[in-house]
Amino acid sequence: MKIKVDLSRSGSGYGYEILIGSDIINPKPKGEITDILNSVGLRGRAFVITSKTVSDLYGSLITHFFENAGINPVTIILPDGENTKSKKYLFHIYDELINGKAERRDFIIAFGGGVVGDLAGFAAATYLRGINFIQMPTTLLADVDSSVGGKTGINHSKGKNLIGAFYQPKVVLIDTGLLKSLDARELANGFAEVIKYGVVLDSKFFSYLENNCDRVLSYDESALAYVIERSCAIKADIVSEDEKEAGIRSVLNFGHSMGHAVEALYNYENIKHGEAISIGMIFATMLSKKIGLCTDETVTRVKNLIEKSGLPVKIPEFTAEQYVNAMKLDKKVSEKQIKFVLIEDIGNYKLKKLDFGFIHDFIFDICTKTVNR
Ligand SMILES: NC(=O)c1ccc[n+]([C@@H]2O[C@H](COP(=O)([O-])OP(=O)(O)OC[C@H]3O[C@@H](n4cnc5c(N)ncnc54)[C@H](O)[C@@H]3O)[C@@H](O)[C@H]2O)c1
Ligand SMILES: [Zn+2]
Repeated sequence: MKIKVDLSRSGSGYGYEILIGSDIINPKPKGEITDILNSVGLRGRAFVITSKTVSDLYGSLITHFFENAGINPVTIILPDGENTKSKKYLFHIYDELINGKAERRDFIIAFGGGVVGDLAGFAAATYLRGINFIQMPTTLLADVDSSVGGKTGINHSKGKNLIGAFYQPKVVLIDTGLLKSLDARELANGFAEVIKYGVVLDSKFFSYLENNCDRVLSYDESALAYVIERSCAIKADIVSEDEKEAGIRSVLNFGHSMGHAVEALYNYENIKHGEAISIGMIFATMLSKKIGLCTDETVTRVKNLIEKSGLPVKIPEFTAEQYVNAMKLDKKVSEKQIKFVLIEDIGNYKLKKLDFGFIHDFIFDICTKTVNR
C-alpha cells in the first residue's frame, strides 16, 4: 500500500511516499531495498538511530535490511523514554555522526517510536544544515501520527517540543508486523490518535472503529493495517494542504489543548500522550455540546469508543484554575482566549475562539457534576 504526501499543494514543491506492509524489514531479495532507496535519491551511508528496546528486538533485522542494499549501517542506540528527546541525546547523535564522518550525501533512519522519530528527524534537519532521513516507525502512535508530516524536535526543561523544525522525510516505511511486540497499553496509546481522525474528519471511519476496535486492540493484522492506512491517508491529505499548520492542520490538535494540560499537570509522568488526549477529546466534545454545536448522543459515542478501547475517560481531579493556567502555557494561545477544535457531529469539526473565563467555569461545572460520577 502506498500513500502520497504531496507538499506541492502547500507550496513546498515536493512530496514523499508512505509505504505500508506487513513484512517491510524482513529479508528481501537483493536489489529490492536498493530500488526503494535509489528511487528517493538515497545513495550514501546509512546511520540508524534507534532505542534500546527496538534494537534488542529488531537490531539484526534492520542491519540485514540495509546490507541487502549493499550498505553497512552505523547504528546509534539510545535509551528508551521521553527524556531521550533532549539536548543531551541530540548532541550525542551529532557526536556519533561526526565521529562516523557522516557527510551531506549520507542519511539517517529514525527506527523507533515517536521519541526516536522526533529526535532523529531534528538531528537530520540540523546536522550539516540538513541531511536526508527516512522514518521507519515501530509504535502505533508513530505509524499513524508522528512519522508523517515532518514535525521534528526535542523537549526543553520548560516544556515539550519547544525546539524543533518542520523537516520532511524522504520516505516513510511502515512495517505493521513490528507492532506484535508492542504492549497493550502502547497500542491503545496510539489508537487514541486513530480515534481522533475519525471524530474530527471521517464519520465512516469512526463507525468502523466502533465496530472493530476489539480486533485492532487484539493485534488483528488486517484491522491494524486498515486503521494505519486510513489514518495515514487522512493525515497525508491534511499535511499536503497545510504543511506548517497555518490553517487546517490545526484540526489535528483536537483533544490536545486539554490533553497537553493534563500531561503538564502530571509532569509528563505516569500518563501517556494518547491517554491524555483521550480525556481531552471527551472534554472538547462536551464543550461542543455545551455551546450547542453537537448532541448528547455524539458525546456518548465518543466517550463509549474511548472507554471500550481501554483509554481513560475521567477528567483527573485538578482544579479549574490549574487547568486554565496549564492551557495558558500553550504556545498557541493569547492571554484571554484559546482557539478550540470543536465538533458539530462525528466527522465535522468547527474551530472557535473561547474565553478562558468560560472554559474555567465549564471545567468547574463538569468536575463537580457530570464527568466523574
Ligand atoms: N512529530 C509529531 O507529529 C508527533 C505526533 C505525536 C506524538 N509525537 C511525539 O511522539 C512521542 C511519543 O511516541 P511513542 O508513543 O511512540 O513513544 P516512544 O517513542 O517513547 O515509544 C514507547 C516505548 O515503546 C518501545 N517500542 C517502540 N517500538 C516497539 C516495538 N515495536 N515493540 C516493543 N516496544 C517498542 C520504545 O522503545 C519505548 O520504550 C512523544 O515525544 C510525542 O511528543 C510527535
Ligand atoms: Zn497527539
